Amino acid sequence: MSIPQVTLSSGNAKTMPVLGLGTAADPFPGPETVVKAVLEAIELGYRMFDTASFYQTEAALGEAILQALSLGLIKSREDVFITSKIWCCDNHGDRVLPALRTTLQKMKMDYLDQYLIHFPASLKPGATFPYKPEEVFSIDIKSVWTAMEECQTLGLTKSIGVSNFTRKKLADILAFAKIPPAVNQVEMNPAWQQRKLMEFCNANGITIAAYSPLGGPGACWGSKGVLESEVLKEISTSKGKSVAQVALRWVYEQGVVIVMKSFNKERLKQNLEIFDWELTDEDSKRIAEIPQSRASLAEMFISETGLFKSLEQLWDGEQ
Ligand code: A2P
Repeated sequence: MSIPQVTLSSGNAKTMPVLGLGTAADPFPGPETVVKAVLEAIELGYRMFDTASFYQTEAALGEAILQALSLGLIKSREDVFITSKIWCCDNHGDRVLPALRTTLQKMKMDYLDQYLIHFPASLKPGATFPYKPEEVFSIDIKSVWTAMEECQTLGLTKSIGVSNFTRKKLADILAFAKIPPAVNQVEMNPAWQQRKLMEFCNANGITIAAYSPLGGPGACWGSKGVLESEVLKEISTSKGKSVAQVALRWVYEQGVVIVMKSFNKERLKQNLEIFDWELTDEDSKRIAEIPQSRASLAEMFISETGLFKSLEQLWDGEQ
């Protein structure tokens, strides 16, 4: 099964596969599980992989790519599209480049295909969960983004982007950026459709990458709102597809990139089989009416006495 590709605004010739494997798991499953899942995914045809400093899976993903090379599953590093993300403790202008160098060292790679700001907040360097209110700061986006641009200029990453950014926060970057963000990776699924954000990103040449396309049912913050949706179940029965396939197909039909997580070979295979059939207009209309709620709230940044006092404030009141 070959996976369609998209061209990013970064101007790099290399395209990004529209479906890839995310490696965030809570609790951290251990490096062997990650390496095994990535190797199985490569065998099945996956070529896009997503990690983050915060997930603690960078080293395991790097190791899996090295093993895939030595096993001959891929011919060169060029054959895979690798994303990682800078964590909030490093969202300070002078910490960005060192953070990327640490990531590359852990992954045993010369460059990333994509480096993203994981979340639009800064934490005191070294802060650990649960964060104290006084450890959370607003991000100095100008200095952090300028340092991200330097990372791309130096060739340490082929493209740069953001994650969990609202329209307002994207507009803040676009107002001064020399290199606009190529990607905004956000939660997106039939139960959190992000229509306004999608319009904004389409108008500004920013590709959306959808995390938790299945609602993140295995994550501590995730929801079963997608996999247990009655509407999706009915469509899945009528199509002879699984609910997960219907959800992934819907996300694909929005014209975005999908970052799906499964460490199970059968499900990895099943989740690839979404490119040779389509939803009908009637299916899409029914999915558009599914009640909406954000699953990934990032409540860890909110406190009565801290910078973000409410979800409304954290997410700029956007839906
Ligand atoms: P597993 O890793 O055991 O396959 P999301 O991508 O929205 O974050 O969802 C990830 C969760 O969904 C994981 O817990 C994963 O479990 C599960 N999952 C992935 N693919 C499927 C599928 N086809 N059917 C059911 N659950 C799935």
